[in-house]
Amino acid sequence: MNIQWGNKTAVITGAARGLGFALSNRLLDAGVKVALFDRDLEELEKKFSKYENAFPYGLDIVESLEVKNAMNDFYTKVSRIDILANCAGIVGKTGIRSHEVDFDDFDEVMKVNVLGSFNTSKAVLPHMLKKNYGRILHVASISGKDGNAGMLAYSTSKAAVIGMTKVQGKEYAESGILINAIAPAVIRTQMVEDIPEEQVKYMTDKIPMKRCGTMEEFVEMACFIISDANSFTTGFTYDLSGGRALY
Ligand SMILES: NC(=O)c1ccc[n+]([C@@H]2O[C@H](COP(=O)([O-])OP(=O)(O)OC[C@H]3O[C@@H](n4cnc5c(N)ncnc54)[C@H](O)[C@@H]3O)[C@@H](O)[C@H]2O)c1
Repeated sequence: MNIQWGNKTAVITGAARGLGFALSNRLLDAGVKVALFDRDLEELEKKFSKYENAFPYGLDIVESLEVKNAMNDFYTKVSRIDILANCAGIVGKTGIRSHEVDFDDFDEVMKVNVLGSFNTSKAVLPHMLKKNYGRILHVASISGKDGNAGMLAYSTSKAAVIGMTKVQGKEYAESGILINAIAPAVIRTQMVEDIPEEQVKYMTDKIPMKRCGTMEEFVEMACFIISDANSFTTGFTYDLSGGRALY
């Protein structure tokens, strides 16, 4: 899809690798000024030093003050923030049933995936409201719609992200700010490489197309959702699951 980005600006979390990295590259190549949020600052600096329009911030999205300060700093530099794409996330321990889940692991997954997405959207919305324009994308997961056995914390956190998207979509529907989510099945990033093979097989076997999604397929759909081409859809979770979720 040939999207005209004009002078748009964006914040992308989880930009140091995986899906956030792929989306950041696409927007930076198109001339969008992008604030790259990730806890791995070294990796951000290594990968994005060639771009004059890249603004790396090493931070933890769980820390609301760090997020707010970085968001305000980026706004001061570029005078508007049009897009937020929340790609940072963690999977936690997998291949275990609910009675085997540690409190600490559950808590950490919920904090990064849910509180992190709340923190970034809370910090960006005042800036978007000033311009009556915005596009927010939360990266959820098919596990949040369907529930993956063996992945209680992760599936629960992604269901919460889908719930948050529905609420935020309705709350800002008359403000020019569209807020949607995307629910991928399996895309072979480092996150997936770190999951035990048996759990990955469980997830991929459920995909009717019998293959994993690709980074390009994610980027194409994400770009549509965060662009002006998406103008009458908000609060919705777009499917990217090769036919696994049909709702
Ligand atoms: N890859 C898949 O198959 C898949 C499927 C469904 C959903 N998702 C979701 O897509 C998103 C991206 O996944 P990915 O596969 O690219 O993962 P990844 O592990 O390759 O990359 C995640 C990035 O987020 C950053 N990050 C993690 N916690 C952070 C924190 N607290 N603060 C700041 N940065 C933090 C990491 O440093 C890393 O750069 C995640 O939300 C994931 O749950 C992925």
